[in-house]
Formats: sequence, C-alpha cells, structure tokens
Amino acid sequence: MDYKVESLRCEYRKNPIGLDVKRPRISWKISSNYRGVVQVAYQIQVAVNDRNLSSVFWDSGKVESDQSVHILYKGPDLSSRTRYYYRVRVWCNDSKVSEWSDVNFWEMGFLDKSEWLGSWITGEFFPKSTNIDSCLMLRKTFTFNKKVRKARLYASALGLYEIHLNGQRIGDWLFTPGWTSYNKRLQYQTYDVTELLNNEVNAIGAHIGNGWYKGNLAFQDQRNIYGQELALLCQLHIIFEDGTEDIVVTDEHWKVATGPVLMSEIYHGETYDARLEREGWTQSDYLDTDWAGVKVIDHSKDVLIAQENMPTRVIEELNPASIIRTPSGETVLDIGQNMVGWIHFKVNGVRGKKITLQHAEVLDKEGNFYVGNLRAAKQTINYVLKGGGEEEYEPYFSFYGFRYVKIEGWPGEFDLNDFTAKVIHSDNQITGTFVCSDHMINQLQQNIVWSQKGNFLDVPTDCPQRDERLGWTGDAHVFMRTASFNMNTALFFTKWLRDLKADQLPNGGVPHVIPHVLRDEDHSSSAWGDAAVIGPWTLYVCYGDKRILEEQYESMKDWIEYIRNQGENEYLWNTGFHFGDWLGLDAKEDSYEGATPKDLIATAFYAYSTHLLGEIARLLNYNGDAEKYVLLHHNILDHFRNEFTTSNGSLIANTQTAHVLALMFDLLQIEDRPKVADALANLIIENNIHLTTGFVGTPYICHVLSRFGYSDLAYKLVFQKDYPSWLYSINKGATTIWEHWDGIKEDGSFWSDDMNSFNHYAYGAVGDWLYRSVAGIDTTISQPGYKHINISPSFEKELSWVKASYESMYGTIRSEWKKLSKGMEISLAIPPNTKATVILKGISNREIIERDDSVIIDMEGLLDWNFDEGNITLQLGSGEYNFII
Ligand code: BGC
Repeated sequence: MDYKVESLRCEYRKNPIGLDVKRPRISWKISSNYRGVVQVAYQIQVAVNDRNLSSVFWDSGKVESDQSVHILYKGPDLSSRTRYYYRVRVWCNDSKVSEWSDVNFWEMGFLDKSEWLGSWITGEFFPKSTNIDSCLMLRKTFTFNKKVRKARLYASALGLYEIHLNGQRIGDWLFTPGWTSYNKRLQYQTYDVTELLNNEVNAIGAHIGNGWYKGNLAFQDQRNIYGQELALLCQLHIIFEDGTEDIVVTDEHWKVATGPVLMSEIYHGETYDARLEREGWTQSDYLDTDWAGVKVIDHSKDVLIAQENMPTRVIEELNPASIIRTPSGETVLDIGQNMVGWIHFKVNGVRGKKITLQHAEVLDKEGNFYVGNLRAAKQTINYVLKGGGEEEYEPYFSFYGFRYVKIEGWPGEFDLNDFTAKVIHSDNQITGTFVCSDHMINQLQQNIVWSQKGNFLDVPTDCPQRDERLGWTGDAHVFMRTASFNMNTALFFTKWLRDLKADQLPNGGVPHVIPHVLRDEDHSSSAWGDAAVIGPWTLYVCYGDKRILEEQYESMKDWIEYIRNQGENEYLWNTGFHFGDWLGLDAKEDSYEGATPKDLIATAFYAYSTHLLGEIARLLNYNGDAEKYVLLHHNILDHFRNEFTTSNGSLIANTQTAHVLALMFDLLQIEDRPKVADALANLIIENNIHLTTGFVGTPYICHVLSRFGYSDLAYKLVFQKDYPSWLYSINKGATTIWEHWDGIKEDGSFWSDDMNSFNHYAYGAVGDWLYRSVAGIDTTISQPGYKHINISPSFEKELSWVKASYESMYGTIRSEWKKLSKGMEISLAIPPNTKATVILKGISNREIIERDDSVIIDMEGLLDWNFDEGNITLQLGSGEYNFII
C-alpha cells in the first residue's frame, strides 16, 4: 500500500499567521490509490522557528489512533508572535509508515492583551462633530537603517480600515476588521509585511470608514451603534537581521486628514471627489504639513481577538453582459447575474464632471430600473472626475447587491470594457458540486450558491441589498447545512456563533440578529433563537468539531432554560412574540405569518433543541445534564402530543408546516408517524402538489417526504414550475434565490416594495436535500464530519443522471449515478481513513458488477453486504468504485 499525508491544516487553515488559539488543532488528509485505507497511528512533530525541524519542540510520538482531523496540540505552552513548523506521518492498516508530510506552519499572534503597546487614535475633530461622513486618512513616517529579517503588522479599527505601507496596499483583505459584536469582541488582522519595508524612511497610512461600527445600520434609522469615533490601532514589529526589534505603534505622533472619500456607508454607497485625492499620501516623501494632529482615545484593548474566519476578498470578476436603454430612457448596465460586490470603472472626462452609479437587483414590469425594494438603502456612487486622462475607481467600504447599474452623467461613449463587476465574499473554500440532467435544477443549485456568495460577507445575512443585511438567526441556521455542502463554513459560523454567545441576553434569550443591533428587543423568537443550539450542532455534524460544542455549551443551555421560563408551564412554549412560519403561503391576507400555530412551532423547536442539548451533554460527558435534558425532552414530547395531536395521534393543525415539523423532529409516537406522513402527502396533493410552507417548514419538507417513503412526491415538488415553487423564479429569470415565492408575480408585477429581496438564501435550504437525498451523500451522527459516510441516492424518474461531490475534511466524496438503456451506472469515491455504508434502493436480486466485470462480492474494499427488502447495502472501505447494475 502506498499513501501520503497532505493538505495539512491548523485550525482549518493552511499556514495561518496571527492565531490566538492557545491549543490549536491539526488536521490532514491521506491520499492513496489503494482501497480500504485506514490510519492506525500518527506522529506529529513541531519545531519553533525552524523550518527544517532540526530541533523538535514537541513530538507526539507514535499515537495509536484513527483520528486525522482536529488533533489537539499537546506540547509546551506556545509563545506570542512565534512561528511553529510542523509535519505529520501516519501508519495505515498495512502497518507501514508513510513519508513525513511537507512541513507546514502556524504562527501565533498576541496571546496577552498587555502586548498591545499602541493607542487607539482618531481625528481631533471627533466627537465635536460625530456626523463627519468623510473617511479618515491617518499616516506616520518612521526610519531605521538595519537589514530586516521579518516584519509583522497587527491592525484593527473602530470602523473599517485598509492600510498601506510605502505606497502599497497591505494584503487584499476587505472590510477589515470584519463585523463582530464590537464592544465585546473586536478582531485584529496580522500581515506579513517583510517585503514592503524600505531600508531607511518608511511611511504607513490607513484609511478608515464608518462601516458597521458607526454608519447607518439596521432599518430603525440608527447610526453610531457601537461608538461615535472612528479610530485606528496598529502595531508594526520589525525584527532585524541582528536580532534587535523596532516597534512602530499608533500614538499621538500620527497625522490625520480627510480626502476624496466624502461619504462611505454600507447601505448607501460612496461619494468620491477625485479632485481631493492626496497623491502619494502613504509614501514617505509626501508633504503632510497641512494635516491635523491625532487624538489618543480611551477604548478597550481587552476586547481584541485575532481574526477568526476566512477573510473577505474579491473572489471573482464578471464582465457586464450588456448595456440597456430602458423604455424611460435610462442607461443601465446588465451584469447578467444578481451579485454582491461593486463595479470597478475606468473613465475619461473633464475635471468636475459628476457621474452617478445606482445599483438595483431587477427591472420592473416595463423594463425600467427599479429600486423600490431597496427601501432606504441608496446603493449609489457619486464620483467627481479630477480630469486629465484615464481615472479608475472602485468603492472602499460599501457593498452593493445588484444585477443592474443605472449610470448617469457618463462622459462620452460607453464601452463595456470600462466596467468590471467584482464579486466579494468571505473566502470560504468551495467544497461541494451538484449537477444533474435537468438544466433548471442546475440553475437552482447555481442560484443557491450565488445567494450564499452574496450573503456570506463576513456574517451570514438575510439579504445584501436593502437597509437590512443583518445576521438573522433563523435564516442562518436553516441554510447552514446547505451552505456547509457548498463551502467550508466551519470558521465562518464559529465566529458568528461566538458573537451569538457574546450577545445573548442576561436571561438566555437570543437576539433576532447577530451581531445584535436591533433596538427594543426583549423577547426572543422560537425557530430563530434556536440557532444557539442547531448552529453548533450542525457544525459538529458537518466537521466533527467537538470544540464548538464545548465552547457554546453554556450558551445552548441558557437558551433552553430561557424557553423553560417562558411558557405557561415549563414544557410548552405558548407565550410571547414569534415570527412563526414566516412568509408561509397559508398566511391570512396582509400577514407575513403562516397559518401554523405559533405555539406548535415554538414547542416543536423547544423539543428539538432540548433533544440536541441532551445528546450534546452526553457527548461532552456532562452526565447529570444529559439525564436532565433527556427527561425534559420526554416531558416536552408528552405535552406536545397532548396539546397538538388528537387522541388517535393525528395533528390538530392541518398545515403542511405542522406536519413537517412533527415528523422532522420526531415529535410523534413511532406508530403514528406513517399516518401523519400520509396526511402530509395528502395535504400536498390536495394543494395540487404545491407548497404552502414558509421559512420554518420549507427547509425540511423534502427531507421529511423522502424519509417517510414519498421521495417521488418530494421530486415532484422540487420539479414544479408554476407558482409557488423553486423553479417558478427560474422561469422568471432569477439568478439567485428569492425571499418570496412570488417576488415577481405572473403578470410581472412585484409582490411588494417593503419586503422583497431577490437574494435571500433561506429557501435555498433545499440544496441540502439535493446533496443528501438526490445524490445521497450524508454523514452519520455517531461518526460525524464524514468519518463514516452514508451514500443513499434516490433514483426518481425526473432525472437520468446526477453528479455530486463533497470535499470533506478527509478528502473527496463523490456520488454519481446514471441511468443506462438497460440498468444503471454508479460511481463513488470514499476518501482514505473513512468508511461508507452505501444503500442502493430498489436494487435487489439483480446483477451488480464492478465496471471491470468482476462480481462485487469479491471486490477489494468491500467490507460487508446484504440484500434486504428490495435494497442492497454495501459496507465499503475507502477508494474509487464503479458499478454497473
Ligand atoms: C428578514 C428575514 C428575517 C425576518 C424575520 C426579515 O426582515 O429579511 O429574512 O428572518 O425579517 O422574520
């Protein structure tokens, strides 16, 4: 057997710098051309600042274990700002040892807050005028004359920052320091700037904008939510060849000015006067005599934490598809894709000429530019030319949800080549692919991915265009599993869940949006607040990450205890405000709330979250709690049944969502479930095979149908093309998932102005069903994170082939099936150090052979098999398999 250790990761990242995790975890993949590879032991070696590992700082020794993800570093305490090189080798089931892996590293940031020597600095003019719209520019020069060995810059801001050294922008990260619950947790970023320093005089310059910190945020017309003053904190450590060190920090010696960015707001866009540019302001020879002095402000450094998630970047660029002249005479650029990011443009014109770019998602019925659904968000760029040749511009601290851009004041002829659309989102690794024989389903999958891109800009948002763009908890947790197929979301959601915990109310309640920025909230909603439990659990299931459960344990408990204190008795949640089955189609006229009783929904989620908490307590060996929550769960179930089912076990509420929740969360007696599933199927059939479900029921409806033997009906629902259905929006030209089933109605008119996002991932949660049911790729709860894989595709008549893959922590899982003129072809990949249970439904007493004609029972990698009730079940070791049936 031959195998290699590769793709080393520390805390999910390749060679991260600036970590503040005191005991980081290491993961790797094993690659092999052989089948049935299982790791039986590993060894990790770590060295300090020594790429060759000539002197080993920590050696795990040979550890007998099949664990290859999240191995805890157990060596001596780590030091701040130190680099640790590491390598791994493994023994597999043939007992041979692999070669050492390539050497990778991680580097620590600050482990002690007292290491922050710099001060928070701002312009002298704050807070006298807190409504200064201009971005701040801050700069300082410094000198040294020794040879630099390495240099690291640590930076954060109250506001958003970008930073330059000697005329060059440092790194390509956007929207730093990211969005967290700033007054409790504020990220700093670490940059390797060794190559950017000059030998003598140097200049550092930072640009700061309002961003989430102090700009207009949330729909309640709020500003300055986190503070009044923009400020910068940075610290540059320069280590010279002779071993000495210089530290340059933010202090009272910096200078400040305003410049061309006269206004920059997340929702509203930017106003930029190129005539006010300060050419060369981040270079050392720039004359800053007219700049003002800075003021040191008192702001906590205890809240500083290292960057936790993947950075936001420009991930791709699109060329606009066309320029349109609308019936009312507007000039509009069509990107061809609803997206999030901005336009980079090149322009040539006279000094003082003003150009306006306004961004929108859709055109109206007549084909005119439409901004009604943006509500108060202006999404507008006002640019004033400096003149004298070609000039280029793209925004600094604002982003736009758009497909169409209305342009006014453009000098001269339009050339599409002068515009590039830059797509911006958190740089989460793409991990999933799903394609099939139906082009509309493929478009649906694309739309889901685009809505994920558009709403994963540092926090999971509901929508990216109107005056909202907030971390709505309900939307986030229903979409999490789908999102985690499409991309690796472990760090993204870990950061967000830590904010959830930080923002939890003293009584355990969970704010509707995280980070918490809505005013006047004193009651949490069921199904939304349950993100506190369902969120960490989903990460555990997808990534086998137990640390997130440990970290969030108290937060989960607080949420359950919050609920326990709400109801008229401790086993029912039948009080207070809830969003209910938000946007359900069985809502009363003029209501957003579907017909399913809110106390049924609230008690259903209470039961489910309590069940998960019991499981989690057991996993973490909190045995007392495990018993307590198992008992609580039983009592909630009893009350649910008493309250919401008839004496013969049927549901009282005759809605699709009520049936879906009761079945999805196992709330009914086992013997009653088939009957209730049948009732659900009937409700759907009576509704002409269409949904009535909203945010709560829709994510689970297909799963429930497939699980209870109505896979054909689930397919029919998903393949439905008329309103309401997933494919209806595709027929209407959607390139992202809509908030409403009828965002654009049959006659081309809009559902409404006030709540009509065309980029809202919640209903995209059906993506999880495409992966888990149609392609059939799933993990097991007992060996999560795809250590043990279940593959169980469903072959319904609507599709003739499916190809799906998922890049797990262990390697690529692939499930492909194709109907042949006679029989089927199935092709699978199971990564090394995992095993799979493959269930091929409806296949029995037939010949299943490997592609090379060998009979499967002799097949290498087959661990066990049996035929049962019309299905064949194979237990497989790792490897690539190709079957003909
Ligand atoms: C958001 C939703 C959110 C809801 C709460 C809306 O404004 O866009 O997606 O979950 O409010 O019901």
